[in-house]
Amino acid sequence: MSKVTIDNITEVVTAALGENGEIDARQREIMTSLIKHLHGFCKEVKLQHGEFIEACQYLARAGAVCDGGRQEFILLGDILGVEVLVDMLSNPVSGTESESTVLGPFYRENPPVLPKGASTVLKDYPGQETVYFEGYIRDADGTPLAGATIDVWEDAPNGLYENHDPDQPDYNLRGRFETDENGHYAFRALRPVDYPIPDNETAGELLRYMGHHPMRPGHMHFIISQEGYRPLISQIYDSASPYLDNDSVFAVKESLVGEFRKAAPELETDLHIEFDFVLARESAGERIAAE
Ligand code: BEZ
Ligand code: FE
Repeated sequence: MSKVTIDNITEVVTAALGENGEIDARQREIMTSLIKHLHGFCKEVKLQHGEFIEACQYLARAGAVCDGGRQEFILLGDILGVEVLVDMLSNPVSGTESESTVLGPFYRENPPVLPKGASTVLKDYPGQETVYFEGYIRDADGTPLAGATIDVWEDAPNGLYENHDPDQPDYNLRGRFETDENGHYAFRALRPVDYPIPDNETAGELLRYMGHHPMRPGHMHFIISQEGYRPLISQIYDSASPYLDNDSVFAVKESLVGEFRKAAPELETDLHIEFDFVLARESAGERIAAE
């Protein structure tokens, strides 16, 4: 039997991988690196037993917060910059395609399918600025993508998404649109407001531990899909927000900041934003994986 020491523990644990059950190369790669980094972290901060137990209790509390509507671990990953890092690793930008960013925890599948130019607003918001969003979706060669699907969603002026607010109509501020034959999309919505990510439970504990605020800059979420192309999960950020350089989940990219300008009267909204997207072609590997 080997004698376990501070110096050899990492080697002892990684050497045991797959000893009592087959694991594939990816499992081995992930677990070897995870064990190395976890051990390195414990050694670097000289983690004490009481702190380890506190961390375990914290994770148990985070798990207890999760239900159908709340995924606390995504939020913790967001606060630590992990979701945005994983997104950049999964969707590297190599050319002119639009940058992606985090999905976040508030997307709902199958939003109402609406005609081009329709409004996603299902409730009266006196005084809140309305916006006409429009733009073109093209491929990297500049070819317009007709019939691309665009899901959009945003928070209400009270900073809450519809599925976290019993006072909003079902699917308020959500919609699914399609580009026309010129690759053009358009819809009406509200100017998105800055809002705090849910910080009442363990996500809030982590934010306070890190000395961070919970705010995100106002943004409109997009998922754009078209057969043969990599789906684009992204957001457009309001250039007037004070949180662009100070986003609690680190998801802002310069290329995703857009300007809301005063709208021409015929648009029948207060503001107008034009924002184009470029989709990347799906690789052969991605196509096979999707089938
Ligand atoms: C969001 O953009 O909706 C979001 C992203 C990460 C964490 C919380 C919210
Ligand atoms: Fe959001």
